[in-house]
Amino acid sequence: MCGIFGYVGKNNSAPTIVLDGLKRLEYRGYDSWGVAVVPEGKKESVIVVKKKTGKIGDASVSELPKGTLAFGHTRWATHGGVTDINAHPHLDCTKTIAVIHNGIVENHEELRATLIKKGHTFVSETDTEVIVHLVEEYLKHTKPAPRDAEPAFSKAVQQAFNDLDGLNAIILINTTSHEMVAARNGSPLVVGFGDGENFLASDPAALLPHTKQVHYLEDDEMAIVRDGSIHIFNARTGERVRPRKQLLTWSEKDAEKGKFPYFMLKEMHEQPGLLSEIASESPEQAKALAREIRESDRVYAIGAGTSGNAARAATYLFSDIANYLLNWGIASEFNHRLPIISESSMLIALSQSGETMDLLEVVKKAKDRGIKILSIVNVVGSSLWRMADLTMPIGAGPEKGVASTKAFTSKIAHLLLIAYAMKGDVASGQKLIIRAARSAQKVINSSAVDQIKNLAKALKDVRHMYVIGKGISFPVALECALKIKEISYIHAEGIAAGELKHGPLALVTKGTQCIVIAPNDETYHDVMGSAMELKARGAHVIGLSFKNDEAFDDFIPVMDAGEATIIPNVIVAQLLAYYLTIERGFDPDMPRNLAKSVTVK
Ligand code: AGP
Repeated sequence: MCGIFGYVGKNNSAPTIVLDGLKRLEYRGYDSWGVAVVPEGKKESVIVVKKKTGKIGDASVSELPKGTLAFGHTRWATHGGVTDINAHPHLDCTKTIAVIHNGIVENHEELRATLIKKGHTFVSETDTEVIVHLVEEYLKHTKPAPRDAEPAFSKAVQQAFNDLDGLNAIILINTTSHEMVAARNGSPLVVGFGDGENFLASDPAALLPHTKQVHYLEDDEMAIVRDGSIHIFNARTGERVRPRKQLLTWSEKDAEKGKFPYFMLKEMHEQPGLLSEIASESPEQAKALAREIRESDRVYAIGAGTSGNAARAATYLFSDIANYLLNWGIASEFNHRLPIISESSMLIALSQSGETMDLLEVVKKAKDRGIKILSIVNVVGSSLWRMADLTMPIGAGPEKGVASTKAFTSKIAHLLLIAYAMKGDVASGQKLIIRAARSAQKVINSSAVDQIKNLAKALKDVRHMYVIGKGISFPVALECALKIKEISYIHAEGIAAGELKHGPLALVTKGTQCIVIAPNDETYHDVMGSAMELKARGAHVIGLSFKNDEAFDDFIPVMDAGEATIIPNVIVAQLLAYYLTIERGFDPDMPRNLAKSVTVK
């Protein structure tokens, strides 16, 4: 989704500071960008903007005037095509007010029609532009006394914000009051506290080089951010809000690539260490959550994309380990079940970003019904983090590659601990995660990687791939297929092994590429039977297993880790997807059409 970064302070290189901030948000995915600055020293000046389609790359903003107040935006187009004029920031008719925006103004058409009738001229196709003209209109009718000149601007922004339907985060600046005025309802927005300078961003990772003191704006909160002060209040009531200062525990290094060419490779390599950390965490939290689950009427694990695959995998972990029937669902397909779920149920909401709109919508409705929410989420302070009744942090650090890797395996590790805690044997869960960490280490730092690289070279031009698994290896097959398709753009499909004969087998002809996931568990013999069926029809079978077999044309060894073998199996899949993408000349961190956090429906 879109990225937001704003600066107000004493440094008159504000445009460059903002552009650097936007570069830290590139991983979120975007198709255009822009920076606006209030030129210093010229009271009657206009706001100057540079905005373009495409990636920031080596672009500079040196041609913009110096100034100590600037903001910028990376746009992922929703309303209006990918053009320079549709990029943010957008200006009002007088060019003395500018806006940047995340979200969708659902009543933008009626607002635009009203404003045009009042004489406003629109230049873009975006919903966003109505915001700045609305503020301009309100300012015309706000008669501030000279000493009150500043509150007039924030008052006008508040009135405009309250007219907007939909889930939005907005920031506006103007040429007369040295401040940024922000408001949020749905899309995330974070205030950064500096020393004589202050910041706004859509993601805390962009603030790390400047400050670790942040306040996450809640829904319907507004902020007036000046170089020496930050005022927060409720947009609906005007009531002042005491800043809830939080300290970011991430380091700047965490949020950078370091020696790796891509964030995704760095984040894959972090997995063995993260798993070891999770295994050594105090088991008390897993035990407490296990009790909460046992005391709930029905429990549903939900998520989107990779987090949905983790939710599905959880059902196998809970049944196989804790003999517990866990329900699951894809977030965007869950609404029809909500009215039937009793108030004494629980939702386990899984999310890396904690900002996935499909998930937040379900969670909000469930909360309104009094259903308990347990969030297993990576971003501290995210919307999901703050909405939940119970929270288990994934603790994987910033995950910037659009393809989720370490967050997935860390979720699985935490879910495995909870399942073992429900069995009353969390120590065994910790031991299993250590085995999985070792198995992951062997996959990532051994000859297996060379085999995977060679496999990627051989497969780079295939058009279709099928991934087969049974039991908990079925969600692994789905996750493997998702990784391959979302970054290498090869069509890949995850199939339950037992379903092959019910249709998909018709797709298999000579040379069809089939990955078979065959861990040393109760599914092994059935899955190997499927492998033989595929081979009998000419498929090229790639085995991920603890031992080789004549059914395999290619074999990637995966050391057995019991119920935790899902983890090294998924890591093989991540590596294969990554090297396929590199072989095909694409960017694994920023795949086309996708964003790191899908904050719109
Ligand atoms: C995973 O690789 C994808 N980027 C995507 O499916 C992602 O998992 C999904 O959008 C959910 O994101 P979340 O975990 O931040 O909620």
